[in-house]
Amino acid sequence: MPYDDSLSFLHYAPTRVVFGVGALSEAPLELERMGLSRAVVVTDRVLSEKTELVRKLQTALGARCVGTYADAQPDSGIHLVDAGAAYARERGADSLVSLGGGSAIDTAKGMAIVLTEGGSLVDHQGFQNLTRRQTPHVAIPTTHGTGSEVTRYAVIKDHEERSKLVFGDFHLIPDVAILDPALTVGQPPAIGAGTALDALTHAIEGMHSLQRNPIADALGLHAARLVRRWLPRALSAPADLTARGQLLVAAAIAGTAFDNAQVGLVHAIAHTVGARHGVHHGLANAIALPHVIRFNAPDAAEPYGELARAMGFTASTDDAAAAEALALGVGELTRASGLPVRYRDVGVPETALEALAEATISDASIVYNPRMAMDPALVLEVLRAAW
Ligand SMILES: [Fe+2]
Repeated sequence: MPYDDSLSFLHYAPTRVVFGVGALSEAPLELERMGLSRAVVVTDRVLSEKTELVRKLQTALGARCVGTYADAQPDSGIHLVDAGAAYARERGADSLVSLGGGSAIDTAKGMAIVLTEGGSLVDHQGFQNLTRRQTPHVAIPTTHGTGSEVTRYAVIKDHEERSKLVFGDFHLIPDVAILDPALTVGQPPAIGAGTALDALTHAIEGMHSLQRNPIADALGLHAARLVRRWLPRALSAPADLTARGQLLVAAAIAGTAFDNAQVGLVHAIAHTVGARHGVHHGLANAIALPHVIRFNAPDAAEPYGELARAMGFTASTDDAAAAEALALGVGELTRASGLPVRYRDVGVPETALEALAEATISDASIVYNPRMAMDPALVLEVLRAAW
């Protein structure tokens, strides 16, 4: 799928990115620059009770911090977003500063909608429904994966329906992303590896997407290179700030890539497996990735070849052979990171595969997959290979 003369795209990346060890302390200056003085910090219990990071941020913000909402959870539910917005409104917040993984950042995005638009988050589902700027948001990731600090997407779980609701809107893109490598050193190794492989999946899916564009491709290629080069180092030396910093950059640029190019079948499967079996998002992606690459290879050998060569998995200029090298290489990267590589090893029973295949074809990401996959029998083939 090389580019042709029908290529047409919009690439949008408005987030101001502030990078550096100690960049956390820039948060008050960023608020001041935007004329904001009443921020509510949005984070989770683990960070607020088991680490010093929230206190550090509160201290840095000083009088600009008017409260802290620490109830974000993995796959935050609609009720937690609504409760957070009510709290921020009561505190008179004019801005949100999220600190945490994708769930804390996404919770803040949901809160930003409810603060500006009113009602419940459930009233605002969908894509490009918002017509105005939402509550200003400074996002500070503590993991190097989702890229949520630069994207228009928020994933919020509907616990009653056992599904993940996706919100997507230009008005949800955070105003500022503060990337401070020092904030990521305390992640457990499995989370560090899983989130980095989520970033790698964004890079690869952005490139095989039907909506790929040359700017997103440039970002995706470099993000993939960075994950391949620095993930092993971050795992063997967790406090190495260079490795952590390069993975944070990889996550942010892969985030910008897929925010514009979209994702595909890997994410469609991972959303479903995550919602139904509680598998960590990055891990659910990493398990599916090699098998989706093989499934897609007949229609996406060219971008896979570019990726395989950029990541150093092969020097072959035969794209079909390079695509297989990419599938093998990313599978090996997952295995070498100490993560399971089969769904059977993360609590997915074989009897669940058919229902997962049925549910996967309803996920919005699947429409951008390069090979037509909206047939449960085809998805089941991939799931069986990954099981
Ligand atoms: Fe993802």
